[in-house]
Amino acid sequence: QSTLHELASAQGRFFGSATDNSELPDAAYAALLGTEFGQITPANSMKWDATEPQQGVFTFGQGDAITDFAQAHGQSVRGHTLVWHSQLPGWVAALPPAQVEAAMKNHITEVAGHYRGTVDAWDVVNEPFNEDGTFRTSPFHTATGSDYIATALRAAHAADPDAELYLNDYNIDGLGAKSDAMYRLASELIADGVPLDGIGIQGHLAVQYGFPGGMQQNLQRFADLGLDVAFTELDVRIPLPADAAELATQTSYYQRVVEACLAVERCVGITVWDYTDKYSWVPAAFPGQGAATLYDENLRPKPVYDAVREAL
Ligand code: XIL
Repeated sequence: QSTLHELASAQGRFFGSATDNSELPDAAYAALLGTEFGQITPANSMKWDATEPQQGVFTFGQGDAITDFAQAHGQSVRGHTLVWHSQLPGWVAALPPAQVEAAMKNHITEVAGHYRGTVDAWDVVNEPFNEDGTFRTSPFHTATGSDYIATALRAAHAADPDAELYLNDYNIDGLGAKSDAMYRLASELIADGVPLDGIGIQGHLAVQYGFPGGMQQNLQRFADLGLDVAFTELDVRIPLPADAAELATQTSYYQRVVEACLAVERCVGITVWDYTDKYSWVPAAFPGQGAATLYDENLRPKPVYDAVREAL
């Protein structure tokens, strides 16, 4: 039978998965990753703490292992992420604010420059907003206010003119204060001629919080700005143990995300934040929750996998 990526490709979209270096020696895991998915995102190995642990000291070995895997399997790569307040080495936060912009530009120049030709799209800035739509505090925001976002996009474009440049965040799946803020920011950047190609919607959903309202309308308003949109980190977590009603809710959430994406021409694809419960980040990040992915801990496709296939 055809793969998730083949089904998505038939509709002009990609279907991808996050992965991590520690998972690749698992041969059964790697075999599925390399065949079922047409796109991969390194969950950790291109982040700042992994690529520039000390100022001016760049380490690309782990990230290169991901791009090598992608190349060997004909997959595209989403680079994740150049500028983020989290997984940021201590030396950045310790810099005097007057030195942060130069350090940020240098980081982007080196990392996006190294991956030029192997990374197809970058999450240039990750999670810039608070839930109420105000800008999140970070060393970057403290240094230059929200101007750091345009500066980062321009530096990424200079380092890799062919990469698609995205802003990425969570809880911007539907209409609301946070997605309104992203919409305003994107509108302003476009008006200012800043290179921006798309908005990444992480898609970390939870059955107990309900399905985001106005998802298709939200995707469409970004598309109407001339931007691509992508679901970049989709998973749907459940308080454990999952009961039948929760599993049914989860299935409908996955299907509704696929349907919303397919309904919007500029929705270019969907990436799940790893495809198996064996390696999902959810149980560690949200204790007591899990069962969030398409495959179980033994790498067997779950009923929700078939439901996603049907929606594609
Ligand atoms: C997560 C990784 O999956 C974990 O392995 C790591 O410990 C923490 O970060 N939003 C993001 C991702 O943009 O970078 C996060 O990845 C999950 C939430």
